[in-house]
Amino acid sequence: MSFDLIVRHANLADDRTDIDIAVSGGKIVAVERNIEGEAGRVIDAGGRLVSAPFIDIHFHMDATLSLGTPRLNRSGTLLEGIQLWGELKPLLTKEAVIERALKYCDLAVAQGLLAVRSHVDVCDDRLVGVEALLEVKDLVKDYLDLQLVAFPQDGFYRSPTAAKNLIRSLDMGVDVVGGIPHFERTMEDGRLSVKALCEIAAERGLLVDLHCDETDDPLSRHIETLAYETQRLGLQGRVAGSHLTSMHSMDNYYASKLLPLIAEADIQCIPNPLANIVLQGRHDTYPKRRGMMRVPELMALGVNVALGQDSCMDPWYSFGNADMLEVAHMAVHTGHMTSRDAVKACFQAVTTNPAKTFGLEGYGIAPGCNADFVLIEARDAIEAVRLKAGRLAVVRRGKVISETAPRTASLTLAGRPASIDPWTYAPVEAAG
Ligand code: FE2
Repeated sequence: MSFDLIVRHANLADDRTDIDIAVSGGKIVAVERNIEGEAGRVIDAGGRLVSAPFIDIHFHMDATLSLGTPRLNRSGTLLEGIQLWGELKPLLTKEAVIERALKYCDLAVAQGLLAVRSHVDVCDDRLVGVEALLEVKDLVKDYLDLQLVAFPQDGFYRSPTAAKNLIRSLDMGVDVVGGIPHFERTMEDGRLSVKALCEIAAERGLLVDLHCDETDDPLSRHIETLAYETQRLGLQGRVAGSHLTSMHSMDNYYASKLLPLIAEADIQCIPNPLANIVLQGRHDTYPKRRGMMRVPELMALGVNVALGQDSCMDPWYSFGNADMLEVAHMAVHTGHMTSRDAVKACFQAVTTNPAKTFGLEGYGIAPGCNADFVLIEARDAIEAVRLKAGRLAVVRRGKVISETAPRTASLTLAGRPASIDPWTYAPVEAAG
């Protein structure tokens, strides 16, 4: 038997070890031990982890890599970030947004991140971001799946032309309906925006993904309305609540009622631990709240939780590296998710869980799936999260589209190894 590509001796994220993966015609055709046959290219995984690609289910590609333009966020708050983005928006050009987004997608590919759901601000009447990212979506489609959310950053009702622009954006081909109920002028406007946005999605057969309750105010309960509207309109499984940080500060009695409602409506929950660990709690003295939704409790109820990066070098967050293992690593810490099973759950929250939220077809390491995967410089999912391990090879539709050399450090220490692999701290060769 002859294949296009065979990966040999791979460990998989579901804990199977020493597995071969055979690829033909851009699809995985076999996943088993000791596959017989030849291939145009053979990759020896050598007992390292091969995973389906990383997915970032919450990102802002229209703002990425704009850090410092026109100035830095001095207070570090979400509200100053929004204000700063408002100053940058009129200065945006389509060409500049495309250039930054393409640069980011190069980085994403090198990190094995091959699907991104990006919110795109629709409150600029020129719709520069929408035009730019629709073009980027087409330009990158051979190597990265980009899904766009029409996001009225300045409020669906609060911004005078947002409602009209949101519809224009959907007509132009934006995939998902966005919103920001906690930023509307009143609780009531927030509630009405959730209702209106879900109705737009139901009418058009679209998905919903709202920035919802991204605040430390425990009385910000738009998620309750989102769950209700999801049920009322029959949108179960097609609606996402992003951030949901007020859930952190809610009293436990109310949370005990709310979480089952979220599960019942099959709301997709999207925490963004990197951004929210620094954006939330800014009005607190001590103790400072963490501003994270209740991830382990939601997972225990069977809710599909998918982690997002949210930002990378933009008005809200001056760090980030398109590294979804870094996101999972932060989720482990912010959610006290340090048990073996919980770390694995965080790995799934940057791979299989967001694939469901995104609606990606042919995702996974199984016969019939697209031949998209990442060879990671770690032996298993837990080690990958611990080390934020390197991506040695990234494969899309059976072709290697990125390769990174393994890292080694040379040491000159008497009696110690001459070099080590700094990812695993294993000696690469004996001391001479
Ligand atoms: Fe966001």
